[in-house]
Amino acid sequence: MRNTWDFYSTERIVFGNGAIGQLDSILQRLKAKNILLVTDPGIKNAGIVDRISSLLEQANYETVIYDQVVPEPPVDSAMDCYKFAKSQMDIDAVIGLGGGSSIDMAKIVALLVAHGGHPLDYYGGENQVPGPIAPLVAIPTTAGTGSEVTSVAVLTDVENNLKVGISDNYLRPTVALLDPELTLGLPAYVTACSGIDALSHAIEAYTAKPSAYIQAEGSILFQGSIPISDALAYRAIELIAKNLPLAVQQGSNLEARSNMLMGSLLAGMSFSNAGTAAAHCIGLPNWRACEVAAWRGDRALASICHGI
Ligand SMILES: NC(=O)c1ccc[n+]([C@@H]2O[C@H](COP(=O)([O-])OP(=O)(O)OC[C@H]3O[C@@H](n4cnc5c(N)ncnc54)[C@H](O)[C@@H]3O)[C@@H](O)[C@H]2O)c1
Ligand SMILES: [Fe+2]
Repeated sequence: MRNTWDFYSTERIVFGNGAIGQLDSILQRLKAKNILLVTDPGIKNAGIVDRISSLLEQANYETVIYDQVVPEPPVDSAMDCYKFAKSQMDIDAVIGLGGGSSIDMAKIVALLVAHGGHPLDYYGGENQVPGPIAPLVAIPTTAGTGSEVTSVAVLTDVENNLKVGISDNYLRPTVALLDPELTLGLPAYVTACSGIDALSHAIEAYTAKPSAYIQAEGSILFQGSIPISDALAYRAIELIAKNLPLAVQQGSNLEARSNMLMGSLLAGMSFSNAGTAAAHCIGLPNWRACEVAAWRGDRALASICHGI
């Protein structure tokens, strides 16, 4: 029986239409001058990278742009991004601009900027990150992963066909900057897939075993459901259920887009404390997933994961 729980999130969340206009004041507060912007070709083609880079240029930041993130980024590509950035300048702060793939890549690079080494040095159980990562501003352009507030970064181990999830509360971005207008051009298919991801985060967090009954000692990242994660997940389910069909069918409906971004944010705050369950476990078949399933006391699920 666990007697205590704790709740972590990103320290600062800025949300609203036009919120991107706050980027300069956010970076000033972080005392950052040399900025690495991590993003992908789809975001660039959508014109979003130009908007952000001209904001940075107008405010006289030294900016290096890495725009080669691929969906579900391979481990080696994180190393490439880090080496590229390091060869250009000393980095004060990292911006992750895009969906979960770009934000997770930015998390890993911010980790390497602060602590060096290789991404796999930090894999193999939670809480392997030795201290704070470099200042990181996460700007989501999908309404799905909630990565802008979570403690997780997911890479792909291409050789072994595995997802490598690095999990540590130090990986939470310093600031989450959410501007629903940036999600207006998200294609319907990605809107649907990322929206279902957010919905499953919320449902799995809400239905997680209560924290008191999680079979683990000491400090753990995914603690089972706690009152705060329940409240966040409940509201996230409501928002996503009402707005996902609208956002898919009417991509330019700003209210639906805004509610989806709010829903995925709340779901991320929730699941990154409570944990996810069956669907994510099966989507991530490795020992870590088995361990989480075992903590939950879900022996059937643990053995399914062992079997995959
Ligand atoms: N860190 C976490 O907590 C967490 C949680 C869940 C999933 N993930 C990871 O996140 C990744 C998936 O992220 P995702 O679903 O956000 O998708 P994504 O980042 O892979 O992006 C999917 C595609 O959508 C395009 N796109 C994104 N925003 C756009 C916009 N506004 N306009 C036009 N095109 C746009 C991108 O260019 C890309 O081609 C996976 O690697 C997954 O494992 C991370
Ligand atoms: Fe997910």
